[in-house]
Amino acid sequence: MPLGNYSVDCRYTSRMLSQSQPPGPSPDHPEQLKECAQLFTQNYGIWGSAAPTPLRPGGRVSLKPNVLRVKCLGDPSSTIVVRAFANGSELVGHAFATKWLYTGNEAPYNDGRSCVGWVTQLVVAKHLRRQWIATSLLSFLKNTSWFKDVVMMGLMSSHPAACNALSKLIFDFSFMRQYAPSVLGCSSVSYVKEARLAGAFLEGDTDPQAAYEAFTDFWVDHGEPNTVLQAYMQKGKWSSGPLSEGHEFLILVPIQ
Ligand SMILES: CC(C)(COP(=O)(O)OP(=O)(O)OC[C@H]1O[C@@H](n2cnc3c(N)ncnc32)[C@H](O)[C@@H]1OP(=O)(O)O)[C@@H](O)C(=O)NCCC(=O)NCCS
Repeated sequence: MPLGNYSVDCRYTSRMLSQSQPPGPSPDHPEQLKECAQLFTQNYGIWGSAAPTPLRPGGRVSLKPNVLRVKCLGDPSSTIVVRAFANGSELVGHAFATKWLYTGNEAPYNDGRSCVGWVTQLVVAKHLRRQWIATSLLSFLKNTSWFKDVVMMGLMSSHPAACNALSKLIFDFSFMRQYAPSVLGCSSVSYVKEARLAGAFLEGDTDPQAAYEAFTDFWVDHGEPNTVLQAYMQKGKWSSGPLSEGHEFLILVPIQ
C-alpha cells in the first residue's frame, strides 16, 4: 500500500543547510539514483579484511543505481530522499528512508500512528563531514508530512556517528529489545527483514560487552567507525560493546 513519497533538496552554505523550493524529483528518479549511487561509491567505505570472495578486501564498497533502488527504496511510493547540495549543484549528502505499516505486537503509542520509518542509507561526502549535514538531513526528514504517521524510526549502520545522528546517543535498550524483532519481521525492505538480531539483542544485560547489532552479511571495513566508537566509549557516551564483523549496529528510537 503506498504510504506517500517525498523528496527534499537542501543547500549547504557555510555550515548551514536550508531547504530549497520546489522539492526534488521522486525518490526513484533514474538520474537522481545515479548521482546518489556515485556519491555512495566515492564516499562510503572499503571492504574489510574478512569480506568473502568475490568482494575484494580494501576495495571501495560500490553501488549501482538499480541496486540502490532495490535495496534502499523498499516500496518507492513510501520512500523519502533528502539530499544536500553545496556550491549550487554538488551533491554532498543524502538520506534515504522508507516506511511500512507496523503489524507487530502492541505499538508503543496508541495515537493512530501506524508506521515504522527506516533510514536505509545515509552518506555524507568525506570533505564535509562533522558539520552536522547528516544530522540536518534527518532533521529535515522529521519535519516533512512523510514523517507524520511514523511511530518509531530505525537504522542499521557500522558507523556510530550515523546512530548518533538519528538518536543523539539516547538509547532506550529495553525499547529496542521489545520492538526490534517485530519491526524487522514486518519490514518491506529485504535486507532489513533478513537481518538477524545478535549480540545484546539475544544476550540481554548478561554480557555488558555485547553490542546491539544484527548480522546483515555486510563486510565493510570497521577501522574508521571503530576509532569513533573508541572515542565515544572513552567519553562514556556509548554503553554497548564493539561491533562484530559482518554485523551492523541496529538502532530503534520511539517517536513521541
Ligand atoms: C556517518 C556519517 C553519515 C555522518 O555524517 P556527518 O555529516 O559527518 O555527521 P554529523 O556531522 O551530523 O554528526 C552526527 C554526530 O556524530 C558526531 N560525529 C560525526 N563524525 C564523527 C567522528 N568522526 N568522530 C566523532 N564524532 C563524530 C558529530 O559530532 C555529531 O554529534 P553531536 O551532534 O553530538 O556533535 C558520515 O560519517 C558517513 O557518510 N560515513 C560513511 C558512511 C556510513 O557509515 N553511513 C552510515 C550508514 S547508514
